[in-house]
Amino acid sequence: VYKNITIAIDGPASSGKSTVAKKIAKDLNLIYVDTGAMYRTLTYEALKNNVNIKDEEALLDLLSHTSITFERTDDGQRVFANEEEVTNEIRQNNVTNTVSVVSAHPRVRQEMVRRQQKMAKSNGVIMDGRDIGTVVLPNSNLKIFLVASVKERAERRHKENKQKGIFSDLEQLKRDIADRDYKDSTRETSPLKQADDAIRIDTTKLTIDEVVETIKNLINTKINHTE
Ligand code: CDP
Ligand code: CDP
Repeated sequence: VYKNITIAIDGPASSGKSTVAKKIAKDLNLIYVDTGAMYRTLTYEALKNNVNIKDEEALLDLLSHTSITFERTDDGQRVFANEEEVTNEIRQNNVTNTVSVVSAHPRVRQEMVRRQQKMAKSNGVIMDGRDIGTVVLPNSNLKIFLVASVKERAERRHKENKQKGIFSDLEQLKRDIADRDYKDSTRETSPLKQADDAIRIDTTKLTIDEVVETIKNLINTKINHTE
């Protein structure tokens, strides 16, 4: 039943997009596409190769030589740049704090969107990012826009870091998240914005499982109405 559906999940940093999308993908046997990981991979490669992240031409050239692929695992996925694994590297702070500069370039976005739309052609896809419902998959069956307070999102990241043994300062995390929200929502090309037909879910006081259940119910309602 879920073979031909496409689901778009957008929202700001740490609103729970990837955690929730991965679970739904597993439960419903959908392909999960993490578009943020694609922008992160390009950013990581640029930093590694000393490519100026303000130089759109240079980034485009780098991107044209960089294949970005995913491989499914039991609890998520691995990310590869030209067959080299970058799953953990792309989550480093230096990438997180510069990715919004890379993702603001219109022609970089154009190429990423082209790749994402190609991935969505293979059926049954759940994709998360910032512009999935508005630009990448405007005709998706269901569009979700996840939000949560800055405080809650910073606390989630803080907890996640602690579990991984990574030091982080909560107040700094709040500032970083607010800064990325601002950059992602005010850029000229496809800013983070709720699609008119997206359903907004405030996850501030919800557990992961509650969000997953809510979205699965929406999917089932949709499917019953379209069949
Ligand atoms: O997981 P987190 O919310 O920290 O971010 P992400 O989803 O990995 O995305 C990292 C960055 O990529 C975002 O802050 C955006 O600047 C950019 N991005 C984008 O512009 N468009 C997308 N569809 C996905 C991510
Ligand atoms: O992908 P995105 O940046 O939107 O967020 P995420 O990486 O899925 O979630 C950030 C953190 O918040 C993770 O550690 C999740 O386990 C946690 N989370 C939560 O505590 N409650 C939720 N309702 C959703 C996510």
